[in-house]
Amino acid sequence: VKVAHSQGAYEISFLGLSEAFAAVPDGSHIITDEHVKALYGHLFAGEKCISVAAGEQSKSISTFESCLEALARAGATRKSSVVGFGGGVIGDLAGFVAASYMRGVAFIQIPTTLLAQVDSSVGGKVGIDLKAGKNLAGAFYPPKAVYVCAEVLQTLDQRQFNNGMAEVWKYGFIADKDLFDRLTNGASWHARSTQLQEVVKLCLQIKARIVEEDEFEEKGIRASLNFGHTVGHAIEHLCGFKGILHGEAISVGMVAEALLGERLGITELGTREKVAGSLASQGLPTKWDQKWDVPKAVEAMMRDKKRISDGLAFSLLTHIGECKLITGVSCEAVEQVLGSL
Ligand SMILES: NC(=O)c1ccc[n+]([C@@H]2O[C@H](COP(=O)([O-])OP(=O)(O)OC[C@H]3O[C@@H](n4cnc5c(N)ncnc54)[C@H](O)[C@@H]3O)[C@@H](O)[C@H]2O)c1
Ligand SMILES: [Zn+2]
Repeated sequence: VKVAHSQGAYEISFLGLSEAFAAVPDGSHIITDEHVKALYGHLFAGEKCISVAAGEQSKSISTFESCLEALARAGATRKSSVVGFGGGVIGDLAGFVAASYMRGVAFIQIPTTLLAQVDSSVGGKVGIDLKAGKNLAGAFYPPKAVYVCAEVLQTLDQRQFNNGMAEVWKYGFIADKDLFDRLTNGASWHARSTQLQEVVKLCLQIKARIVEEDEFEEKGIRASLNFGHTVGHAIEHLCGFKGILHGEAISVGMVAEALLGERLGITELGTREKVAGSLASQGLPTKWDQKWDVPKAVEAMMRDKKRISDGLAFSLLTHIGECKLITGVSCEAVEQVLGSL
């Protein structure tokens, strides 16, 4: 899969793990997390490595700073490459480090979670969190290459795997009825499913096409990837980003937004049921938790940094396999939907 962008293009290659490390330029600096290093560190034992704590807390100014200082101490030059080897946290952090060190050094992504393989490793968005909110500092900084290694997913637990599957199903819902059919016929998906690699490739083709058309998120095309995310982000916010994974939050969000679409007359009736059935079959949550405060959720949506209009904007399905950006949705309509889920 090839991804074109304003400064060139990069290739997403499907490789074995040892092939991927063999393809990395000599003298690269590998940024990873403790957890991934413990599992796969033997593959790059002789290489320069910066390892940070696992988890979202590493997408911070202080970890960003310590990575830059570590690169400098290790003698990295403008010609050095930075390899992000880990999940979305590492990809975002390492990418922003690569974008910043000496005004930018080559960046290679080797994503190790399903979420990172189908979503965060492609599209050029890198960054870190601020106290004021998630992903508030960052850049568009496309990688030089992305190496997707199927076998690395086998050490993910089923919950982390399902977390990525929420985004996989999303691609089917918003852009590809064939992918949806394929997913539906695949019984239950896990890291060893024989067709998984093919499915990951289809997802990447969809994401590549969308980000190529709207690299800097200005045309509303890239916003289509946000199906389920307006509600999902609000849920993550209500939970303080604890106890619920992103994929789980958007799973509930996709069901909510499918119902919203049906209520607004945009989504074909019966779609919500299909969406909910699919996600439930993957072991993902599909219901609004009674503990979550509806008015507070809507307030969080109004504050979302991606809000682009008066009222609220949603990427809503017209039917399975197609979506449309809808602006100016009233808070009342959203409150009613959340209240009735
Ligand atoms: N840049 C983008 O376009 C984009 C898109 C979506 C999400 N994101 C970001 O991605 C992050 C979430 O990514 P994530 O879900 O991959 O989380 P993560 O990077 O925290 O990884 C989840 C957990 O899995 C562990 N792990 C990683 N690979 C493993 C493996 N192969 N086997 C066993 N354990 C493994 C990690 O150590 C971590 O504990 C968020 O910060 C989000 O903002 C960015
Ligand atoms: Zn997402």
